Amino acid sequence: MRAAVVERLGASPRYAEVDEPSPAEGLVVAEVQAAALKNIERALVAGTHYASRRLPLPGQIGTDAVVVLPDGRRVYTGATPPGGAMAERMLVDPESSVEVPETLDDGTAAALPNAAVSAWFALECAGQVRPGQSVLVLGATGVTGSLAAQLAKQRFQAGRVVAVGRNTERLARLTASGADSVVELGPDDAAGDQLEARLHRLHTEQPFDLVLDYLWGSPAQQTLRALGGDDLAAEFHRTRYVQIGEMAGPTVDLPAGVLRSAGLELVGQGAGSVPREAFARVVPEILPTLFAMLADGSLTVETEAWPLSRIAEAWAAPGRSGVRVVVTPGG
Ligand SMILES: NC(=O)c1ccc[n+]([C@@H]2O[C@H](COP(=O)([O-])OP(=O)(O)OC[C@H]3O[C@@H](n4cnc5c(N)ncnc54)[C@H](OP(=O)(O)O)[C@@H]3O)[C@@H](O)[C@H]2O)c1
Repeated sequence: MRAAVVERLGASPRYAEVDEPSPAEGLVVAEVQAAALKNIERALVAGTHYASRRLPLPGQIGTDAVVVLPDGRRVYTGATPPGGAMAERMLVDPESSVEVPETLDDGTAAALPNAAVSAWFALECAGQVRPGQSVLVLGATGVTGSLAAQLAKQRFQAGRVVAVGRNTERLARLTASGADSVVELGPDDAAGDQLEARLHRLHTEQPFDLVLDYLWGSPAQQTLRALGGDDLAAEFHRTRYVQIGEMAGPTVDLPAGVLRSAGLELVGQGAGSVPREAFARVVPEILPTLFAMLADGSLTVETEAWPLSRIAEAWAAPGRSGVRVVVTPGG
């Protein structure tokens, strides 16, 4: 069969012939319909992800997909690590799969889970959000940030959601889907302190209870400074800051005083920081809820489909803000 194959870190995957997967205990061979191309695959293959060094080379990629099982059911499922979903066929555990509602197309159903489950965990587990709380999302114009902003309102009943991002059109869509206000990240924000001043003003008006950060780098640095106190008589307010992505840079410069002068709690969200009990809820509860929300229009995700045979081009194409690339073996 054909699959996306990575020869070495830093190079684009290529469309190549590989061995057919052979059925194993509890696993069946399923026909892949669509697999999402996410930042995690890009970072793993680029060699910049913390798990890159565990990628077998040459090897297949793709962490999850919508597939058709031998019994004809169309389901969403994860690939056995380190992945192999960008292929014509893959091994699937039917017990760890979730049926896709008929009204959803393959690409949309493949694009939602990784981003939306991660956003759910960030809100519920790392973020411990409560109804009525004030939530700030940095990088809200991306696929995951946008779903986090939507879920904060639609599922977790946040009182206020402030969306920060670069893309004006995407920010307008977020307002339409429930964000209470938006802060546009201008070109000067990378180096300057405009974002810090704007966020400090918003935090002073109504303190943020939770920050979901998909950017890190300069926007995170400015946000952390904005949350820090500048008064020995400042009132205590607990703000949980959840570090999730690093689109704007891998490091920040964090003055010690920021942590001493405010009720800041700095935590991370990723595969190694989600409790086992939360993972156990994904198949029976969280994914069916997310698919139902997608089907009834209370969540949206936009996709762009590429045939698997053009994986190298899809990999190299400049990403469109808020749009998830999905790879389809059927062309
Ligand atoms: N830890 C986890 O569980 C987890 C799960 C999912 C995602 N993530 C990570 O979260 C991040 C975002 O994921 P995603 O799915 O939302 O990605 P995405 O759809 O590609 O969106 C990327 C976002 O980052 C913004 N961005 C990119 N470069 C930037 C820069 N230099 N300065 C400011 N903003 C910048 C984009 O802005 P524009 O819209 O203007 O292009 C967009 O909002 C990635 O790092 C991803 O690996 C982590």
